[in-house]
Amino acid sequence: MIEVEKLTRRFADFTAVDDISFTVGEGEFFGFLGPNGAGKTTTIRILATLLRPTAGTARVKGYDVVREANAVRRSIGMVFQDPSLDDRLTAGENLKLHAMLYFVPRRETEARITELLELVGLAERRRDLVRTFSGGMKRRLEIARGLLHRPGVLFLDEPTVGLDPQTRNYIWDYINTVRKTEGATVFLTTHYIEEAEACGRVGIIDHGRIVALDTPASLKTTVGVDVITLQTETPEDTVRLLHDRLGLEAALMEGVIQVPAGNGSAERLVPKLASTVPGIMALHVRRPSLEDVFLNLTGRAIREESVNTVDRMRVIRRARTRKGR
Ligand SMILES: Nc1ncnc2c1ncn2[C@@H]1O[C@H](COP(=O)(O)OP(=O)(O)OP(=O)(O)O)[C@@H](O)[C@H]1O
Ligand SMILES: [Mg+2]
Repeated sequence: MIEVEKLTRRFADFTAVDDISFTVGEGEFFGFLGPNGAGKTTTIRILATLLRPTAGTARVKGYDVVREANAVRRSIGMVFQDPSLDDRLTAGENLKLHAMLYFVPRRETEARITELLELVGLAERRRDLVRTFSGGMKRRLEIARGLLHRPGVLFLDEPTVGLDPQTRNYIWDYINTVRKTEGATVFLTTHYIEEAEACGRVGIIDHGRIVALDTPASLKTTVGVDVITLQTETPEDTVRLLHDRLGLEAALMEGVIQVPAGNGSAERLVPKLASTVPGIMALHVRRPSLEDVFLNLTGRAIREESVNTVDRMRVIRRARTRKGR
């Protein structure tokens, strides 16, 4: 459905998208995960024919985004990062306008609008002005609009950004429903780790380059460490004990002991810790997340506000050293 080859986009002497290649198959749920300015929107704009590439090629449904732009436009639905509805029209009118622009046959339009408004839970609000809608409702209406002309591919540029967590979950459910009901290929961008985790495959993009691309599970195995955190009354003693008795290089951070466990060895280690260490107050196992993957690949956190980055890096570095990398 999407074939991208050596795609590059420069703005003056700045390279926003830098020689990226990837493909997305039919019915796939594909995500681009990357921090602000990584080049996500630029890539999506090129695929949606809104921006020309500087070099390389991109095809959607087999159509070239430059030479066959019209055919591409008919094959895709787009939900932009910034809202693009007409506030002065009702929900129904916004959809009708879109149906006209996309030559949806008139006799199908009514039924299709009803069907999609129901799908995104807005059937009751059909005759209300969009101006009166909440942010989450507008997003849902945009998703419905993106699907109206039955595109094979739906592009969603940060579909949940700026929404509260509850609304984000809600939108996410709708995207999933839509994906199943409409059978569309979904390409979305996000900088939320949890959202990327839910995609079938994820491309991690940073400074215009794809630094990794795989299923979330496979990406996480590249980090290869579970971290066991442990709290005891006398953490310094515990760290020493772990070293002397179990040969473990634990790190002490703000009173919490962190034990990097090799891939999958947490299950074996936990009972050992429990029987060796006296006075355990708390014990947690943390699986690597895509945040760890990003950190591992780029040395930075995906979002600046991520806490304890420095600590996490130390843990990962230790684990790497121990693995002899
Ligand atoms: N029209 C433009 N002119 C000049 N520079 C641009 C233009 N569009 C994008 N850029 C630059 O290209 C880089 C990538 O931008 P892009 O919007 O693709 O990032 P993004 O990954 O979508 O980020 P965000 O998560 O903030 O939406 C940024 O440094 C941006 O400033
Ligand atoms: Mg963007």
